[in-house]
Amino acid sequence: MRTKLSIIVPTYREAENIPELARRIDSAVKEKYNYEIIVIDDNSRDGIENRIDELKETIPVKLKIRFDEKGLSSAVISGFDMVTGEIIVVMDADLSHPPESIISIVEKITEEGYGFVIGSRFIKGGSSDHFDIYRRTKALVSKIIARPFTKVKDPMSGFFAFPVKLLDEKVRLNPLGFKICLELLVKLSPSRVTEVPIQFQERLYGESKLTFKQQVLYLMHIWRLFRFKYRTLGEFAVFSMIGTTGMIIDLLAIHITYSILSEMLSRGFIQTPEIMLNLLSTDPSGLMFRTALVAGFILAVTSNFLLNRYFNFMRTPLNIIRQYVRFFTVSIAGFAIKWFISVHLFETNPFFHRYYLLAAFLGIMGGLVVNFTGSKLLVFKASRKD
Ligand code: GDD
Ligand code: MN
Repeated sequence: MRTKLSIIVPTYREAENIPELARRIDSAVKEKYNYEIIVIDDNSRDGIENRIDELKETIPVKLKIRFDEKGLSSAVISGFDMVTGEIIVVMDADLSHPPESIISIVEKITEEGYGFVIGSRFIKGGSSDHFDIYRRTKALVSKIIARPFTKVKDPMSGFFAFPVKLLDEKVRLNPLGFKICLELLVKLSPSRVTEVPIQFQERLYGESKLTFKQQVLYLMHIWRLFRFKYRTLGEFAVFSMIGTTGMIIDLLAIHITYSILSEMLSRGFIQTPEIMLNLLSTDPSGLMFRTALVAGFILAVTSNFLLNRYFNFMRTPLNIIRQYVRFFTVSIAGFAIKWFISVHLFETNPFFHRYYLLAAFLGIMGGLVVNFTGSKLLVFKASRKD
């Protein structure tokens, strides 16, 4: 039985490219494979319906027009539902991806058993005919950023193929921006990925939709993928950043509280309770400083808690007050650890007498790890699901 390809083509204002694309696909693949072309158009209103109707008489092509959604990746994903073949091919409509390369890409799957094949501009034999330094730099930078996820040379390619069964994995795909290939590579982690050289052509008609906005979306996408693949590391990075903002809040709060208390004391608005002074064996300014430290700690912990709750770990079913109490407890534990490590190092090792900041730093790091682990495991248990 002949293998059937489902060739998904996302389009936005590509009506004039579609007939040539369809004819070239037809003559490139029909000898060897059965196929269907699935065009997913985002309500371009450029007469694409008529073009498809004409083509339908000779070529197996289906059209889905989306009215309520937009975007290249989400168009491709919504095409997955219409697939009736065994192998999915995704390609651009603007003839940038030569239909003549489909065969060599698909054969890697049907004849060599690969699990995911990319039409690549950046391996030997591949090319992209725009030598524009700006576009090349962009491609290079995008590639470097994608490096933690994949070693392939052209993870940004919009031309790739894989067996339909890869989609069986019930992973939620995130249709953000242009980088559907990277998304599939990371989320579905296909085994045996390879690249086939292609000659990328500059489009003839219409214009590119890869705008600045898409580049910003790309960075957001990379961040999400990072959190998907290295979830704990991502949470730890954000936790540390939030901790840094907490430290600034802490210092500010200490400064403000201390200034206000001094002012009020000198004007006689408040009086320091004798019993506290005796208890802590200090003078009024020492008492004010201690009060300021406590105020700073409470404020910083509260702000850390809220930021982590809403921006780092997913909201959990746990009631916010109980969660706050737990976070506070963990923070006190972290503080104790920090204190213990720093003081211990300082007292037991002459080296740290000299490098006392190092002792303090190691204490801070220890506290951070305890804070993070406690927060992840005890405070924000059922966290993010991507
Ligand atoms: N349905 C739908 N909705 N299709 C879209 C949308 C959209 O919002 N935006 C773009 N497309 C379609 C275009 O009609 C075209 O068929 C394809 O997606 C690629 O869009 P282009 O505008 O031609 O993008 P490009 O040439 O700048 O980018 C291509 O090359 C990049 C590498 O340089 C794409 O293949 C990218 O994925 C690739 O990274
Ligand atoms: Mn293009």
